[in-house]
Amino acid sequence: MARVIAIDGPSGAGKSSVSRIVGEKLGFLHVDSGALYRIMTWQCLKRGVDVDDPAEVAREAAKIAIECRAVGGRIAYFVDGEEPGDRIRTPEISANSSKVAAVKEVRDIVTGLLRSMTAHGDIIVEGRDITTAVFPDTPCRFYLTASAEARSRRRQKENADKGIANETADAVKAALLARDTMDSKRKYAPLRKADGVVEIDSSDMTIDEVVAEIVKLCGNAWGTAS
Ligand code: DC
Repeated sequence: MARVIAIDGPSGAGKSSVSRIVGEKLGFLHVDSGALYRIMTWQCLKRGVDVDDPAEVAREAAKIAIECRAVGGRIAYFVDGEEPGDRIRTPEISANSSKVAAVKEVRDIVTGLLRSMTAHGDIIVEGRDITTAVFPDTPCRFYLTASAEARSRRRQKENADKGIANETADAVKAALLARDTMDSKRKYAPLRKADGVVEIDSSDMTIDEVVAEIVKLCGNAWGTAS
């Protein structure tokens, strides 16, 4: 049976970079679950859906076809035969994705897609409800966090590096905290630290240190050399 490493945590905690590298080291496919919520948001906005209306979002979400394929160490998503790329990384999508992700029907669709990905092999999945709702029974579950300052600093640098936004540190921090609040306060599968998960605070850790910790603990859990 395919093995699953589950990683949750707030925005900017370093989940994506860490998951990518751990996946490479252990030969697990990297699965970015947030990208699926971003695709749903992108498509809803593109199709003129009022994202403040959960019923309208739910109706449209059922019509969005996302194809998932294993490509170069990760699960890639295709909509109408194309990868969305940075079109789902804009501040507009970031700001609206918490609303779309709060809709139960959207969560059910994305959860189904995520669970079906074990058909491709061992996976490392990062998000907000992976340890609590999507794969709560996997032995390797982590809650990756960092201070709000460290997280907004990283997010601002990431955005600047990609050349997709040029916001002040304060604006980045405010947007990040607003999303944290929505993601943790929503009714369905809110972001929370589940019982029994390993918490890692990466505020003062390098990516390599976090990766080493996760690789070691997964090795212990599955009894494999790492
Ligand atoms: O990690 P991210 O910023 O790409 O996530 C985009 C949005 O999707 C964000 O509002 C949190 C939400 N999300 C979620 O609700 N559950 C997940 N498993 C992953 C992301």
